[in-house]
Amino acid sequence: MATRVETLPKWTPAIAVGDAGLDREHQALFDQIAAVGGLIGRGVDLPLLEALDRLVATLERHCQGEERFFSDTAYPHTAAHKVEHRVLRHLARHIRLSANLVPDPDLFRLSLRHFLQALIEHIIEIDQGYRPYLER
Ligand SMILES: [Fe+2]
Ligand SMILES: [Fe+2]
Repeated sequence: MATRVETLPKWTPAIAVGDAGLDREHQALFDQIAAVGGLIGRGVDLPLLEALDRLVATLERHCQGEERFFSDTAYPHTAAHKVEHRVLRHLARHIRLSANLVPDPDLFRLSLRHFLQALIEHIIEIDQGYRPYLER
């Protein structure tokens, strides 16, 4: 079965937010998204679930760090951005739990692909919104 790993975008300097730490984390997220995406087509197996666990853990840490940055800046969309993070984190945890609860690999893969896409779009679109506020 073909996977969609080829179509997942990679991090590029064009979407850098201008903080070295946050940009490294975004790069790591893109790498881990690609790792999960590359394993989706194999079925719901241990390597896929371990890669997803790593991505979920990285996402949790990243959201917390990014939100700490907001409080140090005049970024005006902190509340809405935090809601976006909560939705992404909830989605990630729910999908991970569903791997154990729902015996439907097709639904799991579909949900996982939607989550990966939503996370990519968040980094590419929403995170770009705080870029001007990190410039000091
Ligand atoms: Fe981010
Ligand atoms: Fe964010």
